[in-house]
Amino acid sequence: MKLLNKNIIITGSTGGIGRELVKNLDEEGANLILISRSDSELQNLKEELKSNCITFSGNFSDQKEIEVLSKKISKEFKTIDVLINAAGVGVYKSIEEETLEEWNNSMNINVTSQFILIKNLSKNLRKSKDSLVISIGSGAGVIPMAGRSIYCTTKFAVRGLTLSLAEEYRRTSVDFCLITLGSTLTSFGPMSFEEKRSEMEKGKKAYFTPDWVAKKLISIIKDNDRRVEYTLFPSHYATEWHAKG
Ligand SMILES: NC(=O)c1ccc[n+]([C@@H]2O[C@H](COP(=O)([O-])OP(=O)(O)OC[C@H]3O[C@@H](n4cnc5c(N)ncnc54)[C@H](OP(=O)(O)O)[C@@H]3O)[C@@H](O)[C@H]2O)c1
Repeated sequence: MKLLNKNIIITGSTGGIGRELVKNLDEEGANLILISRSDSELQNLKEELKSNCITFSGNFSDQKEIEVLSKKISKEFKTIDVLINAAGVGVYKSIEEETLEEWNNSMNINVTSQFILIKNLSKNLRKSKDSLVISIGSGAGVIPMAGRSIYCTTKFAVRGLTLSLAEEYRRTSVDFCLITLGSTLTSFGPMSFEEKRSEMEKGKKAYFTPDWVAKKLISIIKDNDRRVEYTLFPSHYATEWHAKG
């Protein structure tokens, strides 16, 4: 897929991975439709870009906000070529500490937002000759983990949703792709960015840089022989992350 002048939505566009995706897609000359929670962060990001860019702020923990926002985008853009689902939150607690509110928020932000966006934009995605929905899953979507039951549940669900829709849309022009992603150097999760960087520098753990992840995702988006699922764990790419880290 060529990305020049393609209409590309990025959720979580102000996050560690989302921001690098936006900057790299800006270089490709795509029309960028950025979604995030904070309007001021979106405006700051927009100022750094040279491509056509429109922003939509909304809180994904509120299903009505996602409905309103997706319907606005559907009206404004007849065709959507790529939807990148990068928004996400992580709760890292035992079930005894987790609250129902954390469960509901995580399900809404990590899973229901994708369901609503895909459902309300399905006609726009079908209008493109060659469209793609690409969702960032996690190792937590394939490996059960103690103390992460909410996060794992949401990422197992993202995997189920993406792979099921890949089957449902198999004979259409809409492709689906799941990125099962390992640890990446952002402030996501229980450790701060600085703590992760220190671990990486001491050689205790491998992390992808967000720029590496963004470039890898863009190469996958462009690939006409793209697979339905990719598993990217930094330990599998030790030489590359070390060189770039
Ligand atoms: N970093 C990793 O190690 C890693 C590994 C595997 C998978 N992933 C996945 O990769 C994706 C991106 O992660 P990241 O590392 O870039 O995390 P990040 O830096 O924390 O960014 C998360 C993004 O999600 C948005 N978001 C959070 N809560 C929201 C809400 N209520 N409504 C709307 N947007 C909201 C954030 O916007 P605000 O800034 O406005 O909150 C931010 O743009 C996530 O789905 C994560 O599960 C990350």
